[in-house]
Amino acid sequence: MAAGHPDIERVLVTQEQLAERITAMGAAISADYRGRDLLIIGVLKGAAWFVADLTRALDIDFTVDFMAVSSYGNAHKSSGVVRILKDLDTPIEGRHVLIAEDILDTGLTLKYLARNFRTRGAASVEIAACVVKEDAQEEPMSIPYVGFVIPNEFVVGYGLDYSEHYRGLPYIGLLKPAIYEGN
Ligand code: PRP
Repeated sequence: MAAGHPDIERVLVTQEQLAERITAMGAAISADYRGRDLLIIGVLKGAAWFVADLTRALDIDFTVDFMAVSSYGNAHKSSGVVRILKDLDTPIEGRHVLIAEDILDTGLTLKYLARNFRTRGAASVEIAACVVKEDAQEEPMSIPYVGFVIPNEFVVGYGLDYSEHYRGLPYIGLLKPAIYEGN
C-alpha cells in the first residue's frame, strides 16, 4: 500500500531516501567487490525487499542465496534465540559473503550468521544493513554498509513487519502504538 497508511504514526525513512541511499550503497559495494567471487546472502523474510533493490544497484557480477532464521516470533521484542528455518542452497567455502539484512536491532541474528558463515569457510564475511537501531546492539560490531541509523523504536515497512503485516509499505515508519498495545 502506498503513502498515507492509517496505521502509520510517522514516516521515518521515505521511499526517495531509501532509493537514493541504496543506490549509493550499491556503488560502494560494487567498488569494493569488483573482481571477487561475491555471494549476497539475504535473510528472509524481511531482507527480500532490500536485496531486490540493492542487487539492482550493483554493476558487478554476483550470486544470491537466502537464509531464513527466526529471532522475533510474533512479538516486537527480540528473543535472542536464532533458529535456522531455511539453510543456504550452496556451499560458501572460499567465497566472499555479504549478508544483507533489513534491520539490525540487538545484532544477535547477524552475529550468529557471521560466525556461522566463517565456520563454513567463507573467504570473508561482511554485512550490509538497510537500517540499524541506535543504542540497541548488545555487543556493537562494525558494519561496513549501513543505510540508515534510526531511533530504537518499533518500525515497519520496506520488509519489516508487525505480525507479518506492513512489509509492502514502500517507506519505513512508526506504527501507531494503538495497533500493538494490548498484544
Ligand atoms: C528481523 C530482522 C533481522 C532480525 C534482527 O527478523 O529481519 O533478521 O529481526 O534482530 P536482531 O538484530 O535483534 O537479531 P525477524 O526474525 O523479525 O524475521 P522476518 O525477517 O521474517 O520478519
